[in-house]
Amino acid sequence: MRISVSLSFAVLTVASLAAAAQAPAAPKATAALSKVALTPPMGWNSWNYFAGKVTDKDIRASADQIVATGMKDAGYVYVNIDDTWEGERDANGVLHTNSKFPDMKALADYVHSKGLKIGIYSSPGPKTCAGFEGSYNHETQDAQLYAQWGIDYLKYDACSYIQEVMEKQAPNDKAEQMRMMRAAYAKMDKALKATGRPIVYSFCQYGMDASWEWAPSAGGNLWRTTGDISPRWDRMFVILNEQAGLDKYAGPGHWNDPDMLEVGNGKLTLAENRLHFSMWAMLAAPLLAGNDLPNMKPEIKAILTNRDVIAIDQDALGKQGSRAYSEGEVEVWTRHLSGGAMAIAVINAGDTRYSTHPFHLDLRKLGLKGTQTGKDLWTGKTVKLTDNEPLELASHDVLLVRIGAPK
Ligand code: GLA
Repeated sequence: MRISVSLSFAVLTVASLAAAAQAPAAPKATAALSKVALTPPMGWNSWNYFAGKVTDKDIRASADQIVATGMKDAGYVYVNIDDTWEGERDANGVLHTNSKFPDMKALADYVHSKGLKIGIYSSPGPKTCAGFEGSYNHETQDAQLYAQWGIDYLKYDACSYIQEVMEKQAPNDKAEQMRMMRAAYAKMDKALKATGRPIVYSFCQYGMDASWEWAPSAGGNLWRTTGDISPRWDRMFVILNEQAGLDKYAGPGHWNDPDMLEVGNGKLTLAENRLHFSMWAMLAAPLLAGNDLPNMKPEIKAILTNRDVIAIDQDALGKQGSRAYSEGEVEVWTRHLSGGAMAIAVINAGDTRYSTHPFHLDLRKLGLKGTQTGKDLWTGKTVKLTDNEPLELASHDVLLVRIGAPK
């Protein structure tokens, strides 16, 4: 999807400001919503590596690798097929797969046989972002089909619904367009619930109309908060900072989605991969890996399967982290965890080391008094953080510490 991204940025910026100013109450998860995604969904999605080239074979190979690499044991469950699996509708309106996916039911059975779950992708518009068949006017039929196949997760991507439906049916009326957007997402929610199958429902409309404010009541278990991520430091860092202030909207069964992981993709350095993974855990973000699993390097596997970091993401309290303060090129984020524990992430967004100008951590700004003992989640070592502690972090690297009993 390229068309809607710039629009979504504009909407998001305005929406973020509005959201920050109002500080409304957190949405309440309904009983139905809270049955799935009690912690942020974990798994793998085909788009960030394969994009439009993904095939049945790639999905099977990825499922195999999730088991073989220990990712399954670390908590990765969903194997999600993104755009480009769709074929044509027959005379009865039933959607068929294209030749890359000869038998979706058999594929779902295969993924399930590995003890994993399977996800699929569609759009409320007539066409998906890659120009394949969407669910417009076929919502019930498609939801039933997914349930018959054994689908456990749906990513529903606005795509052509914006240009072909909202803008055509309500030209120059933004408010009406946004009502139509909400209605389209709620319509598919109803269709999914009517199947009786628990299906995680993932909204992908790039954060338009402050998705975090209305997505939970339209049935969303997670909702994208921004345009698309890419495997570049700049893009990842922009998305990270757009999440500041959204923490109050997340909780068990309903999560902000800053987009899928790019860990192991593109030219991200090891430090950048570590930081990306750490911060998505601080954000209680869905952890959907998007790399080439059969060719994953050991150091990337080590990042994706770091159980201590995953435990931050999956913490049962479900309280998303927030940016405590920033100073120059350094940001400090905190996340409150169950049992009174706390995670602290310090990141160096600068392009150079802090060897000559160490950063001094101000514990008082985090509500802490005196020396804190914790675990550095990337070295595994016990660390003591003292007030005004000079920290030297490599460029684009992170210090992630879990403090069991913060004082
Ligand atoms: C949009 C979404 C992406 C991906 C593509 C598929 O851009 O934001 O995550 O699903 O569509 O076409």
